[in-house]
Amino acid sequence: MCGIVGYVGNKQALDVVLEGLRRLEYRGYDSAGVALAVDGTLATAKRSGKLANLEKTLAETPLPASTTGLGHTRWATHGPPTDRNAHPHLDTAGRVGVVHNGIIENFAQLRSELEDSGVAFESDTDTEVVSHLLAAEFGSPGVGHDLAEAMRRVCRRLEGAFTLVAMHSDVPDAVVAARRNSPLVVGLGDGENFLASDVSAFIGHTREALEVGDGQVVEITRDGVTVTDFAGRECQPGRYHVDWDASAAEKGGFDHFMLKEIAEQPKAVADTLLGRIDEAGRLHLDEMRLSDDELRDVDKIIVIACGTAFHAGLVAKYAIEHWTRVPCEVELASEFRYRDPIVDRQTLVLAISQSGETMDTLMAVRHAREQGARVLAISNTNGATIPRESDAVLYTRAGPEVAVASTKAHLTQLVACYLVALYLGQLRGTKWGDEIRWVVRELAELPAKVEHVLQTVQPVRDLAASLRDKGSVLFIGRHVGYPVALEGALKLKELAYMHAEGFAAGELKHGPIALIEPGVPVVVIVPSPRGRDVLHDKVVSNIQEIRARGALTVVIAEEGDDAVKPYADHLVTLPECPTLLQPVLATVPLQVFAAEMARLRGFDVDQPRNLAKSVTVE
Ligand code: AGP
Repeated sequence: MCGIVGYVGNKQALDVVLEGLRRLEYRGYDSAGVALAVDGTLATAKRSGKLANLEKTLAETPLPASTTGLGHTRWATHGPPTDRNAHPHLDTAGRVGVVHNGIIENFAQLRSELEDSGVAFESDTDTEVVSHLLAAEFGSPGVGHDLAEAMRRVCRRLEGAFTLVAMHSDVPDAVVAARRNSPLVVGLGDGENFLASDVSAFIGHTREALEVGDGQVVEITRDGVTVTDFAGRECQPGRYHVDWDASAAEKGGFDHFMLKEIAEQPKAVADTLLGRIDEAGRLHLDEMRLSDDELRDVDKIIVIACGTAFHAGLVAKYAIEHWTRVPCEVELASEFRYRDPIVDRQTLVLAISQSGETMDTLMAVRHAREQGARVLAISNTNGATIPRESDAVLYTRAGPEVAVASTKAHLTQLVACYLVALYLGQLRGTKWGDEIRWVVRELAELPAKVEHVLQTVQPVRDLAASLRDKGSVLFIGRHVGYPVALEGALKLKELAYMHAEGFAAGELKHGPIALIEPGVPVVVIVPSPRGRDVLHDKVVSNIQEIRARGALTVVIAEEGDDAVKPYADHLVTLPECPTLLQPVLATVPLQVFAAEMARLRGFDVDQPRNLAKSVTVE
């Protein structure tokens, strides 16, 4: 995600834009930049790093006054977070300025066409193609000086998800924007109007807003707002009054960033899949920068990670071994290099890290590389240390995760691991085309299924209330349900400061079942009955065993799984889903359960005690 602001009015545009960017910085802070319309030109400033870097630059080298401007705070997807990759991006003549949130899937082809026509690019970003395309359209027959029409023509050539905001020096009293599958709102003022990624950017100036629809182009001037679709047909967007306070607005109206990030999971999963699977169901992970031969040469995979990322790695093991037949170990990064691991050139190390800065994982990566392994990072932070020190990277696209407890980043880690495993299976021929297409179809259904789970979790919140005074909660699962049990226990520990423990269900009889006494809550993750039925039946037996000893059973099972109903004191149902992909759905109720328990117990949901978002010490 990135933060975008546009303004036309009677105030100093720079002040309004910077204030908006401050409120949007939670959406991304890799770099920041502004552009202002000044005397027939565009005055710009942009810097990598947090907004404070840009403000320092502006204090040292002020921009001229202007009442029209735009700004951007970046969460990098294409191109590391450097000054030259910071937005806004200009055309060659410096007369068009563009800021962008999203992913332009066909940017490489568009860039190639532009370069063939002699355009020289300044940056590595996908966004810059829009600057040059707008410059080419502006002033052309049928467009003239209509920047909105130029934007409509450009949008019709773009694939992917985007919010674009643009200015042209020849039209100093207007700012134009467009959106497809990415947020954009309009703020309506008196003699001034605003564009932004969300209302928090302008809530200090106006609470009157327009919700811009998908596939629409907006033009704002100080006196008016015009909205059309990409074909130029006039639209009438819905107008609404924002009654949130500024802080709530940054959280999108949620009480906590964690709740907002849980709610963002369908889009995070969809974004992580975007552009990586073609219509024929073949995977394209060229961005990984590992050659097919290098990947075919791999004879062992070691996943290294910490905490929640480690749990994603445990799930990855099942998928990797099932789809690629390559042996896969999963190691806690803090343990990896001290156990004198057997690593060589044919070892592929998968380093999973949301922040890309976790010191335990970074040290493990360095050790693995010293031993000759190839390292593929799966990270949510473009340009972070671990991706930079790895041979290759596959970025998740969860957007900045502000809450310390990882949620949407975790689900996208699972999806990224599935993509890597499938890609290896496709490459090594251990999965046939039709098998891969089947899994790909199931992956494509995950965003909607996660959304369905989110719409049906109220019983989970009620359950948290009924268990709030319990001293301990146990979690059990088999196969990929076991890492889910571990993740559920971790969430409850780190958020509600409650003792919780995850077990492999098959391990109960080897000791932990001694913990079961009347009233002990046990959360059971039940595999799909349509998958490997032996797995399902054994978990049902485990539920009977603990129920017989008085456990209070909280069963998470697939809709229609009648076998579990007689033994479930509380039943949480999930949409149908293939066994290996079920963690993407089963984890969600456990996130909600832990967040609600923390709220009920009066703890800080976003910043639990003793924890940090990124643990940069060993
Ligand atoms: C998860 O809720 C925790 N915040 C923690 O376990 C986290 O997953 C772990 O520290 C790894 O962080 P990383 O993904 O940034 O490397």
